[in-house]
Amino acid sequence: MSTSAVRGLHHVTLVTGNYQVNSTFYVDVLGLRRVKLSVNQDDVYHRHAFYANPNATVGSTITFFEWPHLPQGYPGLGSPHHVAYRVKSVECLGLWYWWLRGRSVPAVGPFERFYGFSIYVRDPDGAIVEIVAPKEDMTVDYVRDLLSKRVEVDHLREEMKLMTFDHATLIGLDADLVSRFYEKFLGVSKWAGVRDDMGKAYLVAEDEDNNTYLHYMLFVDAEYGSIGTGAIHHVAFAVNDEQDQRTIMRRLNSARVPNSGVVDRFWFRSLYFRDPDGNLLEVATLGPGYTVDEPPELLGTRLVLPPWLESRRTAIEGALAELDSTNPARWPPNFPALPEDPEVYPLFPPRSNTLNT
Ligand SMILES: [Fe+2]
Ligand SMILES: [Fe+2]
Repeated sequence: MSTSAVRGLHHVTLVTGNYQVNSTFYVDVLGLRRVKLSVNQDDVYHRHAFYANPNATVGSTITFFEWPHLPQGYPGLGSPHHVAYRVKSVECLGLWYWWLRGRSVPAVGPFERFYGFSIYVRDPDGAIVEIVAPKEDMTVDYVRDLLSKRVEVDHLREEMKLMTFDHATLIGLDADLVSRFYEKFLGVSKWAGVRDDMGKAYLVAEDEDNNTYLHYMLFVDAEYGSIGTGAIHHVAFAVNDEQDQRTIMRRLNSARVPNSGVVDRFWFRSLYFRDPDGNLLEVATLGPGYTVDEPPELLGTRLVLPPWLESRRTAIEGALAELDSTNPARWPPNFPALPEDPEVYPLFPPRSNTLNT
């Protein structure tokens, strides 16, 4: 195995309260392509939808479990903060800003980050999605000026398309603990500590081409978040093959880190475990891929089930229809407001657990 077993992000999985609304947002508004429509293999009467860029590239896939019964989630330890997609240029960022506003999706920005210029939206469930353009040699004033000029964007232009994830951002307590965990078990050795101009500390992992793909925002007093609608359920990293995956599993086992063992997800093989802050992580193989059961042009157009669930299709389809009848789609949704700076923690006022007496 190479020193860096992990190849960057494979997919990121979130929770939605309504598949139809979620699909409208990610396909019609964000311009992603649905590449798989299936069910949660551990909870087969609920959907699992996958969206990706037009080429269905690994590292562009955002997936959702539909769990309408869950309360709103919120970020913290064990509940990652946000995901970011990359676009080609700040000109594209300007088009996105006005495209989103034209669809009544409140976008905020631009923000100058250490990794680029960004705008942010919340999806219908409240999950934060960041869109990042490379910095090149522009100033934030230039980008601000660009975004202040209203443009009519009546369709998603080809050049605007979201490319791959730029990063996923998790919350951690301690830089040493995080970097040593990833180095020891996942072979991630290239880390940099960054402090942004607001004073927030980040630990960022870089791949072999010096692209960052994983950010940890560090807070010594962070508290546990909660997985619910609008929360990131887990973050998956790509490994080349099952051999690399088994090497990681052996390392986890030898240190007695609880893990799932290798699980066959049909489109890839998965291994699950938690980082020291309680975040659920996965390492997933590149193959066999989404086209193993559907031709490329038909990806995501019908409910597909792994072969071992086909015999239960009637019951599954019945349960999903029942779910839809009690969970109608409403569009447009009420997009939750974003905080002034979306890269903050906590995102919501702390919840009171005091009993009313
Ligand atoms: Fe970010
Ligand atoms: Fe996953």
